[in-house]
Amino acid sequence: MTTGGGNGKGGSLRLQHYLVMAGVAAAVLVACVRYMPPAAAAAGYGFSVPAGAGLALSERRAARVGAVDVSGAGGAPPEKPSVVIFNFGDSNSDTGGMAAVNGMNIELPQGRTFFRRPTGRITDGRLVIDFICESLHTPYLSPYLKSLGADFSNGVNFAIGGSTATPGGSPFSLDVQYHQFLYFRARSLELMNLGQKVPIDRDGFRRAVYTIDIGQNDLSASMHLPYDQVLARIPGIVAQIKYTIESLYSHGARKFWIHGTGALGCLPQKLAIPRDDDSDLDAHGCLNNYNDAARRFNALLAEACNQLRQRMVDATLVFVDMFTIKYDLVANHTAHGIEKPLMACCGHGGPPYNYNHFKACMSAEMQLCDVDARFISWDGVHLTEAANAIVAAKVLTGDYSTPRMTIASLVNSTQANDG
Ligand SMILES: *[C@@H]1O[C@H](CO)[C@@H](O)[C@H](O)[C@H]1NC(C)=O
Ligand SMILES: *[C@@H]1O[C@H](CO)[C@@H](O)[C@H](O)[C@H]1NC(C)=O
Repeated sequence: MTTGGGNGKGGSLRLQHYLVMAGVAAAVLVACVRYMPPAAAAAGYGFSVPAGAGLALSERRAARVGAVDVSGAGGAPPEKPSVVIFNFGDSNSDTGGMAAVNGMNIELPQGRTFFRRPTGRITDGRLVIDFICESLHTPYLSPYLKSLGADFSNGVNFAIGGSTATPGGSPFSLDVQYHQFLYFRARSLELMNLGQKVPIDRDGFRRAVYTIDIGQNDLSASMHLPYDQVLARIPGIVAQIKYTIESLYSHGARKFWIHGTGALGCLPQKLAIPRDDDSDLDAHGCLNNYNDAARRFNALLAEACNQLRQRMVDATLVFVDMFTIKYDLVANHTAHGIEKPLMACCGHGGPPYNYNHFKACMSAEMQLCDVDARFISWDGVHLTEAANAIVAAKVLTGDYSTPRMTIASLVNSTQANDG
């Protein structure tokens, strides 16, 4: 571990405000630049690493280069890309929205592993949604609120760090993200009617995949309550996601890819909360009550998807069991080449969790793991690029999907009402 130096407090309080829902207490900006070759962590998980990608290439260009290595799909004309994704969520899939909307200058070591510069993602490298985009040979998604350099031809990312499914639980809760989508759609149709070119046309909206990964912050924010009250809140959280899916459907969406939530009880941030004793820890050192709440949430979300499938018969709605994938990371960590599954790479205090709410990652006193160390947790809440690569590889198999299918086949599928 190394201790980060650095100083400067500009914007730090706002960063803390928006990250606190996601559980990251960022206090002070840090200048701790360390070099690492691109994406060593992703090697071996079936992802092409663009040769020479890095500072010389933009992240979007890098994804395109990566695509060409694998198939000819990268040769699709840019006017009509084959993939359109509208993503809704929190920091797990925020590709820079929170930074853009708050004018945050997020600094290294965020982004250090792959991009080698901060991109607004709250991790050292790529997110699961980035690996999904790479696998589909499409550039990384641009945040909806990124005013400069955004390219929406392959979709829009409405995800913002700290967001909740519950309206009002955060500035960009799922209902707000949904209304931003409606605005984007209405504006596109308006411009089309004026004869102007738009990044996504009518056909694009219809054949798009609508991805949702949200709920972790709602659960986290409930966990201070007595457990029966936590359980009582879960149906309401799930109902918000269900309502959003129905609303998107009523506006023409037909392909949905819904992520469940992960193993909350294995996050260093949760584990570092003082406890009376270790009686709630499971065989892998994770907190049972957090994980049970996450499992309960996922069960209800999966059931909501079942119900929606009955009603939306011309739609395809895929639920992905992220809990099983993320829990396996911890439970079978040695098989994944990970030594300390419950310890944050970037935090404070050293073992067992290297997490201190008041001396978190990005604070002057942060302790940072070596760039080539394989950790699951980046900052106590968010997964590292190495972990995201493993998670994404499993998501992409389709084995954790209900119904069992890959996102590539969902992208390719033609719905009954097409044409
Ligand atoms: C660990 O890996 C084995 C073999 O792949 C699997 O059967 C088991 O379910 C995994 N354990 C957990 C807790 O995910
Ligand atoms: C999707 O379509 C593309 C282009 O036709 C093709 O290359 C790819 O193999 C298809 N993928 C699946 C999973 O059907």
